[in-house]
Amino acid sequence: MALTIAPTTLRLQRPLPDRYTTASPAELETMIRDAKAALGTRLMILGHHYQRDEVIRWADATGDSFKLARFAADNDRATDIVFCGVHFMAESADVLTSDEQAVYLPDLNAGCSMADMADIDQVEECWETLASTVDIDGVVPITYMNSSAALKAFVGRHGGAVCTSSNARAVLEWSFARGRQVLFFPDQHLGRNTGFQMGFDDSHMRVWNPHRDLGGLTAEEIRAAKFLLWKGHCSVHQRFRPEHIAAARAEHPTLEVIVHPECAHDVVALADRVGSTERILEWVTAAPAGSVIAIGTEVHMVQRLAAQNPDKVIFTLDPLICPCSTMFRIDEPHLAWILEHLVDGDPVNRIVVDDETAEWARVALQRMLEIV
Ligand code: 13P
Ligand code: SF4
Repeated sequence: MALTIAPTTLRLQRPLPDRYTTASPAELETMIRDAKAALGTRLMILGHHYQRDEVIRWADATGDSFKLARFAADNDRATDIVFCGVHFMAESADVLTSDEQAVYLPDLNAGCSMADMADIDQVEECWETLASTVDIDGVVPITYMNSSAALKAFVGRHGGAVCTSSNARAVLEWSFARGRQVLFFPDQHLGRNTGFQMGFDDSHMRVWNPHRDLGGLTAEEIRAAKFLLWKGHCSVHQRFRPEHIAAARAEHPTLEVIVHPECAHDVVALADRVGSTERILEWVTAAPAGSVIAIGTEVHMVQRLAAQNPDKVIFTLDPLICPCSTMFRIDEPHLAWILEHLVDGDPVNRIVVDDETAEWARVALQRMLEIV
């Protein structure tokens, strides 16, 4: 099996003590079980579907980024939330929980290369450029959940909202009821795929390249576009190609192809279904025995679905399996380390969004939660 590791942005994770790095699987299991028992109901472990099995088995709740955001928002029991996912998800959980609750990320280097493709300075600069080119009151900024809290705050301040892969269409319909243009960041593919679902086509969309003057567009192109799509992508989902679908269909005549909307549009157009990780899980679980399903999303989730559905043939669409390298950073040694620090009253890796950013990011997240 070939492994291709997607690029990653390094944060400031300190090395783990030997006690964790040299522990056997059985020792790690004991550490985690004992710490969970000691922390009791004050602890909640959230696990994104892309986590490894060794981590997900400890989660009190699993889900896609939207479902986990809801868990964090609705939970008023646990005071310590350990987020087994990536940095932007833990930030959103911090924004949505009360001041009495704290959110922890087991490895600070668990970021998201897509989220890092749009930073607040670039987005502010883009907004200024747009303000001098079009009627800015008619532009609604929408950020995908996969973005920093600073970008969520930006859209909150400017009348926009957050969306996830399971509610992008509802959020974009809401946007067009408010304005005539949408600035969508950081994932061009989710924006484009959702635009196509809504009946728009390429002629309504332009890609904004933050490294070029005027985003690489003419003023006329900017004015005419309904969608300005930020030039960002997910390195994991962008790997799936139309030729993978053609090869899989040639081998399996009854094949159903299900992909995540972060895949490029030429892949989505050839798939039978497109949906968020939670939707993919529901479809695969509901499929009749004997179904043959190729999935275009992160490989840990695909392998788990295959194991959970032994009466179906389930495999990843990309023969060169590509895990999300940042999700992969969360492992049992980091989980044991963070839990034992909580037990000792010496918490580490707390994710805190400053008050002002949190206030506006909450506005944008709450708008999303109200829309769907
Ligand atoms: P979901 O919104 O489907 O959980 O996706 C999050 C993600 O990071 C996909 O790459
Ligand atoms: Fe980010 Fe892609 Fe990993 Fe999702 S799969 S966390 S979008 S790099």
